[in-house]
Amino acid sequence: MWGRSRWAETRGSCCLCRVDQFLMLKHSRVGIGLLGASKMSVGKSHTDRQWWKEAVVYQIYPASFNDTNNDGRGDVNGVTEKLDYLKDLGVDVVWLSPIYDSPQVDNGYDIADYKKIYPPYGTLEDVDRLIQELGRRGMKLVMDLVVNHTSDQHPWFLESRSSKSNPKRDWYIWRKPKYDVEGKPRPPNNWNQILGEAHSAWIFDETTQEYYFAAFTPQQSDLNWENPDVRAAVYDILRFWLDRGVAGFRMDVINLISKDQSFPDAEVVIPGQPYQPATQHFANGPRLHEFLGEMRREVLDKYDQMTVGEMPFIYDDKEFLKIVHQKDGFLNMVFHFELVDIDSERGDVPGDARMSVGNWDVSDLRRIISRWQRIMIDGGGWNSLYCENHDQPRSVSHYCDDSDEYREYGSKLLAMMETTLSGTLFVYQGEELGMRNVPLAWGPEEYKDIEVNEMYPNDQEKLQKARRALRAKARDNGRTPMQWDSSPNGGFCPEEVTPWMRVNDDYPVVNAAAQTKPEATSSVYHFWQRLVTLRKENAGALVHGGFELIDETNPDVFSYVRVADSGEKWVVVLNFTGHSATWESPKWGLQWVAGNYADGLDKVQSGGTDLVHLRPWEGLIARQPCN
Ligand code: GLC
Repeated sequence: MWGRSRWAETRGSCCLCRVDQFLMLKHSRVGIGLLGASKMSVGKSHTDRQWWKEAVVYQIYPASFNDTNNDGRGDVNGVTEKLDYLKDLGVDVVWLSPIYDSPQVDNGYDIADYKKIYPPYGTLEDVDRLIQELGRRGMKLVMDLVVNHTSDQHPWFLESRSSKSNPKRDWYIWRKPKYDVEGKPRPPNNWNQILGEAHSAWIFDETTQEYYFAAFTPQQSDLNWENPDVRAAVYDILRFWLDRGVAGFRMDVINLISKDQSFPDAEVVIPGQPYQPATQHFANGPRLHEFLGEMRREVLDKYDQMTVGEMPFIYDDKEFLKIVHQKDGFLNMVFHFELVDIDSERGDVPGDARMSVGNWDVSDLRRIISRWQRIMIDGGGWNSLYCENHDQPRSVSHYCDDSDEYREYGSKLLAMMETTLSGTLFVYQGEELGMRNVPLAWGPEEYKDIEVNEMYPNDQEKLQKARRALRAKARDNGRTPMQWDSSPNGGFCPEEVTPWMRVNDDYPVVNAAAQTKPEATSSVYHFWQRLVTLRKENAGALVHGGFELIDETNPDVFSYVRVADSGEKWVVVLNFTGHSATWESPKWGLQWVAGNYADGLDKVQSGGTDLVHLRPWEGLIARQPCN
């Protein structure tokens, strides 16, 4: 990246009309299909500027953020303690993954009480204090809303399973068994579990001799949204939290709440396996819009809040747009999976698809990102921007090269991309430090996620073999404790305490204390911090502006321009390869603003060439001042 003085120098020269071109590129002699400024058409830019569009949202995985009560798990007070760190980074909104009371089978995504905090995380009073402290800093709290399913330990489910005549029986999805030739009960259809693809999603319950439906794991029973009492109970939860002062929700797998009520068998795509993926029968089901519309009318419209819906298993642009259309949609934005699945392939054995590591190149990245920019800008929707969360590997490991040589370059390259696209920006804890996946040397016992156990049940040998795949794809990669400093356990918890999950071995080098020191001007953290400021100061272009690709056929470089209503252009040039690459600059009188190599463009322009030479994982951001 640029050294501190250079950044300060270029950012300081903010007068858009002054031609401060000490780093201006020479024009290209050989045109290779670049858009000339006059020919360029940009997307409609958004003019309605709700607060959540410019907000930087920071996701916290509570178990792994900061342990203040010395039990090896993070807690709510641990979040409050770090608010100044987040404020300094430029965070506006904290999204907490579930902190509700839970048996923790799926780390809190299995909720047993929506109005109580999981005791190791703290109390409702701690949350009130967190909201207050956030407010003092001009920040907000967004909660995770997990209402497609509850824990099988939720009192609603305990009642529901107790007898067929219980008033809550119909709050969950119960079906009679089929019977095989020997008269043994069999699941009502062939749908498999999402987090345990080899198993049926129907769980036989001895007490009432019927099956209940649990899409993810047997301990996460799906609520029956067809029942109006269930919906009313969910709206009551929403009000409970909004009235306490939270500013919105990230809605967990919200597009799965309406299921095809005929529960048909799924098409066989994994031959020889009894249970098949069936999400096409319950992703964006027939009553989804009706349910979300009701939720909006009953609750959401009455508060100034933001919503982001996690929406896996759908691939239809029009469907997405209906959900997030800024005028008559239901949610502010959604998380789609196309980018994070860039290297996923469907295998023919359960588990293969999730853990597959396929090939991809810059043309895939360009196609996916520009497609989503266009869908939302042209269609009147709004994007969410994320490369990491608690279900994904670390982004520098996923999309770049996390070796000691290139980790920082790759992390900064991704930061340049994420902070210059249209949408609301989501940063996941540790992403701002360039944290990486767990070391390859770690054995399977270090992986704590139920998905891994479900995938290879009791099979140590298979688990060992799968180590490489796990190291690339397991959800555990993003869940190792935050690395605060170089003390034992990375400062996440005291030395004498065993953290719930092992701290990544690289914490002596990769940690917040080292990166936030004022003299660490070129740290990944400080780079993120400057880019977040740049994004906010230039929100007209970088958040709300139009988007257009440049040099669309470049085999190595992803580049685009963002355009403000004023006509000011920002150009972003990203070499997504581990080798040198060239990129031809449009003739726009560009003024270079930032890059992830300390010596910036000086060396890049060697020889007075017309082409920009980019080093491995090098990224540059430039501006064309308006005339
Ligand atoms: C979402 C969560 C994931 C969880 C699943 C079931 O995808 O992000 O962590 O396992 O829903 O709740």
